[in-house]
Amino acid sequence: MAAPVRTVVFPAAGLGTRILPATKAFPKELLPLVDRPIVQYGVEEAVASGIRRVVLVTSPGNTMTGAHFAPHPALEAVLEERGKTESLAVVRALSALAEVTTVHQAQPLGLGHAVLMARPEVGDEPFAVVLPDDVIDADPPALRRMTDLFAAVGGPVLLVERVPREAVQRYGIIDAKALGQGVFEVRDLVEKPDPATAPSDLAIVGRYVLTPDVFDALERTGADAGGEIQLTDGLRRLLEHRPLHACELVGTRHDAGNRLGFLKASVYFALKRPDLAPQLRAFLTELD
Ligand code: UTP
Repeated sequence: MAAPVRTVVFPAAGLGTRILPATKAFPKELLPLVDRPIVQYGVEEAVASGIRRVVLVTSPGNTMTGAHFAPHPALEAVLEERGKTESLAVVRALSALAEVTTVHQAQPLGLGHAVLMARPEVGDEPFAVVLPDDVIDADPPALRRMTDLFAAVGGPVLLVERVPREAVQRYGIIDAKALGQGVFEVRDLVEKPDPATAPSDLAIVGRYVLTPDVFDALERTGADAGGEIQLTDGLRRLLEHRPLHACELVGTRHDAGNRLGFLKASVYFALKRPDLAPQLRAFLTELD
């Protein structure tokens, strides 16, 4: 019987170069989609999947991302005094949403290195990793399906999505055997393959359920040519001594870490809001 997944790690210490200059001084994960920062969508998905311990991995100067989830007594006092009960409820609900801690990655030495920074907080138990840029709208939540699969197979689970052939070079791609119902057994993983030689069109997208032995695998994984420790390389190492599974995304994913993806995600989530959708739709039609 697999131990329950209680902790989720959010690596958020990257440079965010694809969306500069917005991210020069400001953390990418706090850019808002409508009125919630990108990272809040991921935390809400984790909580809806039954995972309430959140470890944020941020760059050392970033105090804002943790503050977003912490109580803000001065703001709460003003809202209370002014009778802004709805806003007060929103602010209080946010600090009660999850149990959030922050660890720092001194330098952006890769996603695998960022995950390693969370080791003391995670301890010796299974955990999830959510890349905040990948904002997913799914019912049931993607992470919930993954933890259900984890409970069934008792080993690491990756989330995959079919991508157009020409896009495989931007992702980690799996070579896999289909087991049915959107579940795969992973045979191999290749980081950013050439479309001509890629083993499949199944791209790893930003959700992982991992076992703690991945930390040792990452410790043993050297830096790549760019000086970064890649999570995919650590997973390959793990695959040498245990099976890995993948489940296919059922839902809509936005990569909010690039300009067009960010804009699409903003419009997508605004159109799901009854208070905004009619007027936004009318505006978009006017532009056409
Ligand atoms: P990305 O490569 O997609 O994001 O990393 P990035 O590095 O921030 O942005 P670009 O590509 O330069 O625009 C995926 C996730 O891993 C985190 C990022 O913050 C992002 O959430 N990450 C990446 C780290 O925490 N540390 C790193 O060293 C690298």
